[in-house]
Parts: sequence; C-alpha cells; structure tokens
Amino acid sequence: MSFTNETEKQKYYIQKCKELVKIKEQQYGRKLSACVVTFGCQMNFKDSEKLMGILSEIGYEETDDEHADLVLYNTCTVRENANLKVYGRLGYLSKIKEKNPEMIIGLCGCMMQEPQVVEKLNKSYRFIDIIFGTHNIFLLAQLLYERLISGHKVEDIWDGTTEIVEELPTVRKYDFKSGVNIMYGCNNFCSYCIVPYVRGRERSRNPEDIIDEIKQLVANGVVEIMLLGQNVNSYGKTLENPITFAQLLQRIEDIEGLKRIRFMTSHPKDLSDELIKVMAKSKKICKQMHLPLQSGSSRLLKIMNRHYNKEQYLTLVEKLRKEIPDIGITTDIIVGFPGETEEDFEETLDVVEKAQYDSAFTFIYSKRSGTPAAKMPDQVPEDVVKDRFDRLLSLVNSISKEKTKALEGSVQEVLVEEVNKKIPGYVSGRLSNNSVVHFPADVSLIGSLVNVKLEEAKGFYYMGEMVD
Ligand code: SAH
Ligand code: SF4
Ligand code: F3S
Repeated sequence: MSFTNETEKQKYYIQKCKELVKIKEQQYGRKLSACVVTFGCQMNFKDSEKLMGILSEIGYEETDDEHADLVLYNTCTVRENANLKVYGRLGYLSKIKEKNPEMIIGLCGCMMQEPQVVEKLNKSYRFIDIIFGTHNIFLLAQLLYERLISGHKVEDIWDGTTEIVEELPTVRKYDFKSGVNIMYGCNNFCSYCIVPYVRGRERSRNPEDIIDEIKQLVANGVVEIMLLGQNVNSYGKTLENPITFAQLLQRIEDIEGLKRIRFMTSHPKDLSDELIKVMAKSKKICKQMHLPLQSGSSRLLKIMNRHYNKEQYLTLVEKLRKEIPDIGITTDIIVGFPGETEEDFEETLDVVEKAQYDSAFTFIYSKRSGTPAAKMPDQVPEDVVKDRFDRLLSLVNSISKEKTKALEGSVQEVLVEEVNKKIPGYVSGRLSNNSVVHFPADVSLIGSLVNVKLEEAKGFYYMGEMVD
C-alpha cells in the first residue's frame, strides 16, 4: 500500500481494525468495549481523547470500567508516585486478564519513553499486549492491527519526532469545553524535570491549524478552550513565520461564538508585557494565570535552571495584579530540591506571602533518573522535607482562604460545568479566575454562562445563588 500522508495511512489501519472488530462482535454477539485511563497532566488528558477517538472509530464503545475488551493506560512519570500508581493498577489488571485472556492491554505515554521502565515491564509484566510512547500516539490503529493479526506483543517507541499529525478522529469528555494543543514538548530542561526527555523538543502547531480546530469546536458547541503547552509563552518562536503567543491569542479572540479562553502553563521567564496587555483588554481571556514558582530562593532557581530570580518573579506578579486587578494567580512549588536549606525554604514562604496565590500545587521533590538534579549532592532528608511541606501547605491554605473571602457577596459570571454529585438540585461552575461555585440550578444550564452571587466563601470554593 502507498499513502500520500500519515493521516491517510492511519485511516487505512482504522478501517482494517474495524473489520476485525466486526468479526469479534459477531462472535461474541455484543459490542466490544474500550477503557482509556489517563494519568498525569492536561496534555495526557488531551492525548487520551485522541486515543479514544481512534478506538471509537474502530468500533469500540467507551467505558470507565477496566473489565473491558481493551484497556489502555496513558501514563505519567513526572514524579515517582505517578509511576507507582501505574504499577499498582497493573497488578489489578492482570487479575482481570486471567479471567478474560482475549483482553488487550496497552500502555503508552510518558513512562514508556524511559528504557528502564519498558525493560521492567517486559520482564515482570508480560501480559501487556501493546507498548508505545508519546511521539507516536497517532499510530494506535496500526499497532493494534499488528497485535490483532500477529497475536504477539507489539512494542514501538520513538526517541523523538518533528512530525505533527493532524486530522485524526477524537472524542471529547465535555461538550462545552475542550483543551487545544498549541505546542508539544519542552526545551527548558529545568534540572529536576523529566518532561523534556519524555516529550521531546518544543514544536509549535501552525496558527491556522489551531484556529481551524477551535472554529470546528465552537461549531460543535464548545464555549471555553484551554490552550495547552509546557511553556505557552514561547509559542511560535520556531515557526517558519514566527508569531508570538499574544498575537495568537488575539487571533483566537476574534473567533465568533467562543466565550472563554484559558491557557497553561506560563513560564515566568517568557511572560511578555505584550501578553499582559492583551489579557488586560480581552473580553474572552479568563482572569487567571498559572505561573509556576518552583522555589522562592534565587540561589535554587539558578540551580533549577529556571532563568528568573525571586525579584523578577515578584515584579511579574505585581505587574499582573496592577494591569489585571481581579486576576487569579496560581502556582506550582517544589519542596526539598537537593541542597535546599532552611533559608532557601524561607524565601519560598516569603514569595508565597507576597504573591498572595489564589491556590498553589505543592510537590515534594522526586528524584527522576536521567535529570541533572538526580546526581546532585545533599538530597534533603525525608523528615525535614515533610516538615517544610506541612508548613508551606498551611500558609498556602490560609492565604487561599482569605483570597476567596475577598469576592464574597459579589456577582460573577460563571460557566456551568456539571451536576453537583453531593447536593441534589445543585450544579457546579467556574468563575473567570477558575474558582469553583456550587449553586441550585437546572442541569439544562450546563455549558451556559450565568450570573451567580457568591453568597458564602468556603475556603476553596463558594456557595452561591443565580441572579438575573
Ligand atoms: N511546564 C510546566 C510544568 C509541568 S510539570 C512548568 O514549567 O511550569 C508540573 C509541575 O510538576 C511542575 O511545575 C513542578 O512543580 C512539578 N514537578 C516537575 N518535576 C518534578 C519533580 N522531579 N519533583 C517534584 N515535582 C516536580
Ligand atoms: Fe519541566 Fe521546566 Fe519544561 Fe516545565 S518548563 S515541563 S518544569 S522542563
Ligand atoms: Fe506527566 Fe507527561 Fe504530563 S510526565 S505531567 S503526563 S507531560
């Protein structure tokens, strides 16, 4: 067979798998089911939608139940406990497969890009049928076809890629909101981080492809998009016709019918004044900025290879708060980076105090083999890290609580996102600044923007009432 491009080739394999699945359906007298489980970040979540899109097209029915005909784990390796979770669940899956030997188990995603992981899987988890990585998820149908025809395990992991394959089927978890990749990979090599090794070099998508995708989403009922990249602020720099992230945002803003725009993640070193200006005057870009700090110590930031210092970071926060007064600022912080002293840690607490984060994700440093930090001396003892972590968390929590309190009593525009699972008759939605509010309303409002009075701040969320 010869194909003019990769998309066409994969569509051919989707068709071939479809025929095989049809035969099985007749044999079993029922539809086949597939369960895709996502570990990790928004990029992985988005990849899973693409994987499920291919499986749906082949004829599998989507299910959340791992007692399925095909189970695919899309893995994460950013911290050790992400890996441990996968190994734990594989034990459980092997029991299910013992009862249903025809079941197909696939593993993909960031963990598979680490040779020592694949070696371990091949040695101790021999029941796995398909293994592939982050660079070739678009090959799913081809790999599945190979597995179904041969009956043998199929493994295909690429070291990297320059290719971006567009236009394969995808499904969406939500009807009214969607993630949109604007770039893949990362070139920053923060010294603790495994992502650049498992996701490869930074590649920006063409603005035309991004805009076409969003227009298509809006035509299908999407009102909020989340632009995804490890460092969205460096978007477009390597394109044939370079454009800035701020310029891309302006073009997206013009898309009729689109109501809300979010993005993540912003690296402080590349956050431009141009972006702040565009955000300040935009009607659609949400008043939210996720701005990972990692550490407040300029000394550690240098060793982390972050390319900003404490003062530059705080100046940035000040600028954001001045130009966009009601902005919600959130962050990521690592505790226990090698060599972190009590003084370094206190610098972190100081930034948290000054930046007044609306919320913060706090992580205990996890040693990732292959990264420069893994070889650094003075790994901080566990009990010291635990103590710092608790102190940080309690500061972060008390500040978020105060911040939420500040909006109590105000009326805010809210996107209704889901039925509240705990309180009958209630729905839950998000403000522009990404805070959550629960209020009584009809489920038919899911996907609509409504005005809600924030009656009571409850720490991290609000209870509210709809107003006209
Ligand atoms: N590209 C984003 C981060 C993606 S990873 C950025 O640069 O901001 C998400 C978060 O995981 C990071 O912000 C960091 O806080 C945390 N993280 C990454 N590697 C880690 C490690 N080895 N140990 C602990 N936390 C880590
Ligand atoms: Fe990791 Fe740094 Fe890249 Fe973020 S910017 S993904 S922390 S290397
Ligand atoms: Fe994890 Fe890969 Fe995302 S390592 S955080 S799933 S890019």
